[in-house]
Amino acid sequence: MINIDISTAVGGLKLKNPVMPASGTWGYGEEYAEFYNPGELGAVVVKGTTLEPRHGNEPPRIAETPAGMLNSVGLQNVGVEKFISEKLPFLKDNKCVVIANIAGDSIDDYAAIAERLDAEKDVSAVEVNISCPNVSKGGIAFGVGADTASGVIKSVRKKYKRVLIAKLSPNVTDIVEIARACIDSGADALTLINTVKGMSIDINNRKPLLPNCTGGLSGPAIKPIALRMVYEVKKATGADIIGVGGIECFEDALEFIMAGANAVQVGTANFYNPLVMPEIIGGFRKYLAENKISSLKELIGVAVH
Ligand SMILES: Cc1cc2nc3c(=O)[nH]c(=O)nc-3n(C[C@H](O)[C@H](O)[C@H](O)COP(=O)(O)O)c2cc1C
Repeated sequence: MINIDISTAVGGLKLKNPVMPASGTWGYGEEYAEFYNPGELGAVVVKGTTLEPRHGNEPPRIAETPAGMLNSVGLQNVGVEKFISEKLPFLKDNKCVVIANIAGDSIDDYAAIAERLDAEKDVSAVEVNISCPNVSKGGIAFGVGADTASGVIKSVRKKYKRVLIAKLSPNVTDIVEIARACIDSGADALTLINTVKGMSIDINNRKPLLPNCTGGLSGPAIKPIALRMVYEVKKATGADIIGVGGIECFEDALEFIMAGANAVQVGTANFYNPLVMPEIIGGFRKYLAENKISSLKELIGVAVH
């Protein structure tokens, strides 16, 4: 019997295994605790957190698509203070490595929330969601331009001393350019990808189904796009990457590891299979044992040439 080691590291953050929930799809974990102990996961990425609480968008917020879903939840969350006082203790009690996904409408918003979380030692890393609309630039997402992406990451870097992960939007022409801008501005690692912009029409009402017109596509439909972006960014930059997009099973997760991801996140699949993450962790152990590979690290990026 060989010793199986499925631990990994992302931007200096050590994880006992490479599996974590994608922000916004697992809340703060309370609902999943009846299925398994959240401390079994490599880390927990919490719902997108803003400085002030947000109610999110008007319903309907979700539309089903043939291989995934469209959402326009609009960052509904309790705000950073309630996250710290009401949600963080549960995660701490369960010995979770906590990654806080943060969002804002302005660079000052991002800096303020980063400063607040820097004082909270139970948050091991921040994942900076740069897919939010930059209000001062008329609603264009920070993550679609190298200059705006860089501005956000620099402002967070000044205020946050621990691990900084930039979560990139796939709705760009050249993902490598944005990835480089984030790394050069102080990000320790990257999460790839957020949802892909899409839409759906209600033919009876003859108008867009989502009140915001467009929404974010997630689930199996986006897996090939996400994999391609992980591969391209790993090849061009060698950066530490968390891969996300359409992972439904262990085999999907392993594809991301082989494309260069150091760890993976699971989003939409949690909604229809609450046990998907422990299953993926078990799948990694079984694959390594069957193939007589002692460490998962050996498989990171093996398909990148
Ligand atoms: C309902 C819902 C809410 C989401 N909320 C956030 C969020 O608050 N912050 C964020 O960075 N990504 C958010 N995402 C994007 C996911 O974290 C993930 O990047 C995306 O869904 C792709 O992964 P998947 O195909 O496994 O779902 C959300 C996705 C969904 C479906």
